[in-house]
Amino acid sequence: MKNIRNFCIIAHIDHGKSTLADRLLEFTSTVAQREMQAQLLDNMDLERERGITIKSHAIQMVYNYKGEEYILNLIDTPGHVDFSYEVSRSIAACEGALLIVDASQGIEAQTISNLYLAIGNDLEIIPVLNKIDLPHAMPEEVSDEIIDLIGCDKADIIPASGKAGIGIKEILDAICERIPAPKGDPNAPLQALIFDSVFNSYRGIEVYFRIMNGTLKKGDKVKFVNTGKTYNADEIGVLKLNQEPRDVMSAGNVGYLISGIKDAKEVKVGDTITTVDNPTKESIQGFEEVKPMVFAGIYPVETSEFEELRASMEKLQLNDASLVWEPESSAALGFGFRCGFLGMLHMEIVQERLEREFDMTVITTVPSVQFKVFSTKDEEITVNAPSDMPEPNFIKTIEEPYIKAQIITKSDYVGSIISLCMDKRGIIKGQNYLTSDRVEMIFEMPLAEIVFDFFDKLKTISRGYASLDYELIGFRTSHLVKLDIMLNGEKVDALSAIVHRDKAYDWGRRLCEKLRELLPRQMFEIAIQAAIGQKIIARETISAMRKNVLAKCYGGDISRKRKLLEKQKKGKKRMRQVGNVEIPQEAFLAVLKLD
Ligand code: GTP
Repeated sequence: MKNIRNFCIIAHIDHGKSTLADRLLEFTSTVAQREMQAQLLDNMDLERERGITIKSHAIQMVYNYKGEEYILNLIDTPGHVDFSYEVSRSIAACEGALLIVDASQGIEAQTISNLYLAIGNDLEIIPVLNKIDLPHAMPEEVSDEIIDLIGCDKADIIPASGKAGIGIKEILDAICERIPAPKGDPNAPLQALIFDSVFNSYRGIEVYFRIMNGTLKKGDKVKFVNTGKTYNADEIGVLKLNQEPRDVMSAGNVGYLISGIKDAKEVKVGDTITTVDNPTKESIQGFEEVKPMVFAGIYPVETSEFEELRASMEKLQLNDASLVWEPESSAALGFGFRCGFLGMLHMEIVQERLEREFDMTVITTVPSVQFKVFSTKDEEITVNAPSDMPEPNFIKTIEEPYIKAQIITKSDYVGSIISLCMDKRGIIKGQNYLTSDRVEMIFEMPLAEIVFDFFDKLKTISRGYASLDYELIGFRTSHLVKLDIMLNGEKVDALSAIVHRDKAYDWGRRLCEKLRELLPRQMFEIAIQAAIGQKIIARETISAMRKNVLAKCYGGDISRKRKLLEKQKKGKKRMRQVGNVEIPQEAFLAVLKLD
């Protein structure tokens, strides 16, 4: 155990975590050069394309330091706030962390939030000043920021470049020297922390764990403490580039377990594995159920594909335990599913995976947060979709989720960021200068305001110099109303939204304007109306189309006509007919694009 080092890398998105990880693997010959593929740890296609590490992974390296062999387990963590619970679990599996800061960007919101998690778990922090090869790197300023933030000495900071391969040996040496060896009693009852799982269609779910105490043997009967389920440890082993099976693994080690689990829901990150024969009395502290934060409807474009969509969602859920869904029906869209996501990025990923991996064409409706409605009869009703909202006369109060948002930016943008946040019903709670030019601001604001276009707006007004991180702080009473949209007098439930009363008029007006832009013209006039209850608060009209598209082809040859019809048919993908009006996908998400 003395020569094991378990560490993770914490960094803000794009500060170069994956590139640096690749270098460490290369330097320790964990992968031969020819196997080296940029960003090896991101093995999902989608991850690589988006350049985002969506799921955490682990990999073991062997490194010779001062004549002794060290086993270094790198536990990779996702950088996006949607997946922060996974970050917290991978951090809990380590004794140390590389804190990577881009020398051209400085400290950002997720650098700090992840750092606090690491410090909270007593990890040894090794600061790395990355991308020093960039001509516009600011090593002095950024080093000062790091020193201010963690109170280290300048000499503790390792200058590096993942791209140019600078500082790699120094980082590996520091891992061996500065990070403590794991503690834990190999003879105690087994306590292993699940920090991740991966779905493999042939072998079932692979569970990634870190043994805190005790010893796990191949063939042991194991129990997952929080779910209470038992399994046979069919295969255990360590994670190198490929899995290497082992017969016995004990405290301090990181590895994988295969036991024929088919459903991701049975494996909860943060759960404890123990043995049935000699179970631990307590699970590892801090297990949390991850809760979806954002809800939206997903509907097949072709109503006949509902069952196919269900089958695809079921399969997708097998390897994405954080995706929750239930069937719902909409007067406008027919049968579909109400899905819960960890955040907007998670929602986009799910939609993309349904399309790529399952070849489904789907329509996603306006995302919404979860509201709590207290009725006049004092019942508590959970509202995940505007259509679940009771009639106004049954509502006593409505509560909505609030978050604490942490924004880090340059001092130039403080004013405009405060205006933006206030416009989003935010309350400023603190402002703290990290250096003379960088400011950390804390706001409390409704989650619903972040879900829409907040992040894009923040980026725009700060020219990209602002980073955001947030956490849920609870529910608060708000004056909310349900805003309905009607097309030619017919309510389109999928376009309804729950909004703050003070904003409802403005919102209704802008939404009608946006829909006027987005809805294709038809042979007849379309009236677009916004209403609160019975009251119409805004109206726009799309005038009728004068000419038939085919009119152009009069006298023309038939193949041209056919081509035109084909083209129209293609354009029809992602359109839904509601009453006599055709609605394209963009219109369902129009609220995300109100300026
Ligand atoms: P996430 O997984 O999304 O959190 O990103 P990451 O932190 O893993 O960043 P990644 O390694 O994907 O690098 C982000 C971008 O920075 C890529 O375009 C890299 O080529 C570039 N990059 C990474 N390291 C360096 C470096 O040392 N120098 C320079 N100049 N560019 C780098």
